[in-house]
Amino acid sequence: MCGIIGYAGFRDVVSTILQGLTNLEYRGYDSAGMAIQDNGKIKIYKTLGKLINLKNELEMKRNELKHPALGIGHIRWATHGSPSLVNAHPHTCTCGRLVVVHNGIIENYKELREELIKKGCKFRSQTDTETIAHLVADEFSKTKDLEAAVRNSVKKLQGAYAICVMHQDVPNIIVGARKHAPMLVGVGEGENFIASDTPAIIEYTKKAIYLDDNQIAVITKDNVKITDVKGNEIKKKVEVLPWEPMALSKMGYKHFMLKEIHEQPDVIRNSLNGKLFDIDAPVNLKEVKLDKSILKKLNKIEIIACGTSLHAAMVGKYIIENFAEISVDVEASSEYIYRKTTTNSSTLVVGVSQSGETADTITAIKQAKEKGAHVLIITNRPDSNMARLADSLIPVNAGIEVSVAATKSYTAQLISFYLLAVHLAEIKGCIESSYLKNIKHELIQIPTKIEEILSDTTAIQECAKKFSSYKNFIYIARGVNLPTALEGALKLKEISYINATGYAAGELKHGPIAMLDETMPVLSIMVPGGITYEKVLSNSEEAKARNAKLIALTSSSDKELNNLFDVILKVPHVNEILSPVLTCVPLQLLAYYIAEFLGKDVDQPRNLAKSVTVE
Ligand code: G6P
Repeated sequence: MCGIIGYAGFRDVVSTILQGLTNLEYRGYDSAGMAIQDNGKIKIYKTLGKLINLKNELEMKRNELKHPALGIGHIRWATHGSPSLVNAHPHTCTCGRLVVVHNGIIENYKELREELIKKGCKFRSQTDTETIAHLVADEFSKTKDLEAAVRNSVKKLQGAYAICVMHQDVPNIIVGARKHAPMLVGVGEGENFIASDTPAIIEYTKKAIYLDDNQIAVITKDNVKITDVKGNEIKKKVEVLPWEPMALSKMGYKHFMLKEIHEQPDVIRNSLNGKLFDIDAPVNLKEVKLDKSILKKLNKIEIIACGTSLHAAMVGKYIIENFAEISVDVEASSEYIYRKTTTNSSTLVVGVSQSGETADTITAIKQAKEKGAHVLIITNRPDSNMARLADSLIPVNAGIEVSVAATKSYTAQLISFYLLAVHLAEIKGCIESSYLKNIKHELIQIPTKIEEILSDTTAIQECAKKFSSYKNFIYIARGVNLPTALEGALKLKEISYINATGYAAGELKHGPIAMLDETMPVLSIMVPGGITYEKVLSNSEEAKARNAKLIALTSSSDKELNNLFDVILKVPHVNEILSPVLTCVPLQLLAYYIAEFLGKDVDQPRNLAKSVTVE
């Protein structure tokens, strides 16, 4: 999705903004642009496609810039209007003296646009953002005060926005404002930043002020001023950012995705750290702020999420129901918000999100809060908007995830669900403690088992090579691994653009079996000793009988499997209920190696965004 950085300070303005945008690049975008205050003039540069095009353009035109003093940059993920130069940000008012970059969607832009056209404004693009430029310019013409002009304008905007504005006649300041879209101010010595997300500024400062809705920030190179909607100055806490710049390096791996897959053992150790270390002690999950007496009586949990986080939520349902005997509903946030739910003050609502900024999940969480539910957020971004809405917060501590396709945040979310399920079971006392001890013992072993998978990926790479030319795949599983099948298929779709469907193995014969022939491989997830093993095996036989090529993902060493399957991918043995946290890893790698083999842009797949801040 779109990304913003504004900079005023002693560094080279152009390269600082370019670096900030580079660090936001992972979010997904289709054009980029920058506006620079230079020698009393605002100069604008825009290009289509990747940031390298903007870098080249700026290099070519570098001599045009004499004394770049401050500037704003943007990467755009098209919503209103195609990805084109004219729609790329920054946008300007009619005279071109005012520039704006914007993340979000202005819902009433058509009405505002009509009014502004009547006033004589000349629109050039199809974007909602351009309306903001004309609106602020109109206000500025009345007061000649840019901060007041932004304040008066945002009062008229409906929807979501994080904006940065500069005006040629006010040469030293950048004004930022936000509502329902993230924005923070980076505080430095002799320099200040304004950005839509932490990675844009982390190389330069670890000190930041998070803006809240309806707040306005004015930055110069020496000053930061935050005001409320009435113009009253607010003293806000300067927070220390939890990230290291190192997190943005590939550390020798070809892609961030491969690096992040390999980080999973440590991420899981990190997630377990301080919460589960002794199988004889209860799981320590003090993050759950609900009273034990309420947790004991809890009989309904709703989990809401999108994308990969939704698959983690589906695993969460299985394990909470299994360990804690509490009924759990799971739903895509984008559907939850249209349903007349039975959520009330005795419901625990769990929101799951890597970014903590997914617009649909934020809306769903707000709805649940309005109905009085206790909201528990599981997120990788304790500094996010969603985290700020939480009554209870479980940070998954996976570190910044750069690759658009989520991997380490998924396994970390799974671990959070195991901890939550065991915690609830221990409070309720509903399950034998010897069983829970075994589960806890196996959980502690998980990182080592993933290390085992990662230590030799040859079989996965060969499988990827063998199957990379197929155009359709079906992944099947039952029970707790059905979400693994969905997630494995999603990973393949996301980064290789191959059509892959995850399906409940038992449903194969109710429709999809009609498509099976030698052109459609079936990948079966089967955990020996589990309650679904034999059934998935039979479903695989049914696929074989229709000439499908078969891939098994299993820990079984049964030689008989060689007669049925064309390829067998192995994971170490694990209790079926815990297996999703292992079985997902070879599927992440299979998707990775197929995409890599096909020469796809693994870390930034087309059309996708890392953080989806529009509904
Ligand atoms: C986007 C990303 C996915 C992610 C989904 C939900 O579509 O590309 O990888 O799973 O958003 O994001 P969240 O940050 O809420 O987990």
